Amino acid sequence: MTQPIEQILDEARWAPSGDNTQPWRFRIVSDSEVEILGYDTREDCVYDLDGYASRIAHGCLIETLRIAASAHGLGIEWTCQPDGDTTHPVYSVKLVPHPGLPPDPRLAAIRTRAVQRRPMSTRPLSDEHIKALNAAAAPHRVVWMTRFGQRLSIGRLNYRSAKIRLSIPEAFEVHRRIIEWGARFSDDRIPEQAVGVDAMTGKLMRWMLQKWERVEFFNTYLAGTIAPRLQLDLLPGIACGAHALLVAPQTPKKPRDFVDGGIALQRFWLEAERCGLKLQPEMTPLIFARYIRDGRPFTRVPQATAWAREVSTDINEMFGPAEAASAIFLGRLGYEPAPVSRSLRQSLQSLLD
Ligand SMILES: Cc1cc2nc3c(=O)[nH]c(=O)nc-3n(C[C@H](O)[C@H](O)[C@H](O)COP(=O)(O)O)c2cc1C
Repeated sequence: MTQPIEQILDEARWAPSGDNTQPWRFRIVSDSEVEILGYDTREDCVYDLDGYASRIAHGCLIETLRIAASAHGLGIEWTCQPDGDTTHPVYSVKLVPHPGLPPDPRLAAIRTRAVQRRPMSTRPLSDEHIKALNAAAAPHRVVWMTRFGQRLSIGRLNYRSAKIRLSIPEAFEVHRRIIEWGARFSDDRIPEQAVGVDAMTGKLMRWMLQKWERVEFFNTYLAGTIAPRLQLDLLPGIACGAHALLVAPQTPKKPRDFVDGGIALQRFWLEAERCGLKLQPEMTPLIFARYIRDGRPFTRVPQATAWAREVSTDINEMFGPAEAASAIFLGRLGYEPAPVSRSLRQSLQSLLD
């Protein structure tokens, strides 16, 4: 790997994406131009409503690419074709020499940034770090939820939202595909040990996720969603330093708005990493709330739509309807060391078109 463009793409591929799907391929056009062949997973992933979660990931990728290019004294210019709605956007990125451009201070965080899904330290975030994170997210605004009562409210919100996740066949199909069982690392999925459950619950989940009938039986007769929801949602919701809601400057409506959201998110996430903070996205309440706001069906389980309505009401009460409609991201942060288990990435070779 000798060309700067290959070295830059090798860094950029460490951008985060929902369920580690890495919804992109790269076509190197010349030494100074690359096409990102993006795609989305809306067809088979209930969390990728209108492909917007994938668009956020594309934004994360573009920002990571920009930061990686700065190590070579290069800036980037990019466009997206077509501009409107499509499942396969192509981003043309040009590398542009910027003599004297210093390497971006977030460069070293690209590879160390990783999701922490386990309970985190409740140490409050320092004022200095909050200031740095607010600046990193701009022009997006950050609404912080730091006090115990606020963290408990978000924990409850996630607990509610998880009941939907764990009770609908549409999400079951996603979960069984994205976990690499028995693994500490995974190139193209989430390794079991990074999911955040203990060994016993992990075994149970693995068994249940083999057949939808098992999930139905457990949920109906044995309150099957409670143990994972306590471990994955309620407790981690409290056990962190803060939750952060990223709010777009205008209500996001177009795919491009979500790409811009992803750019801001990756700056925010890498800045958190620089501050010694780990982060976990908490996206499902926002997604279920958007299904409700837009009046879009997402499941064949009738009660789940009623639960999603409650999630939407909670979010509106917590943040106000205007903020809720403009939010592109919700996540929790805490001062933590690197997780012992994490997702890795597909090789650059396999991502090249
Ligand atoms: C748009 C988006 C949505 C995500 N949603 C969630 C989420 O709801 N819960 C979660 O635990 N992780 C979520 N993630 C984190 C991804 O699962 C994670 O980035 C991916 O598996 C790669 O792992 P890494 O970030 O540790 O390298 C999300 C990431 C992105 C970019």
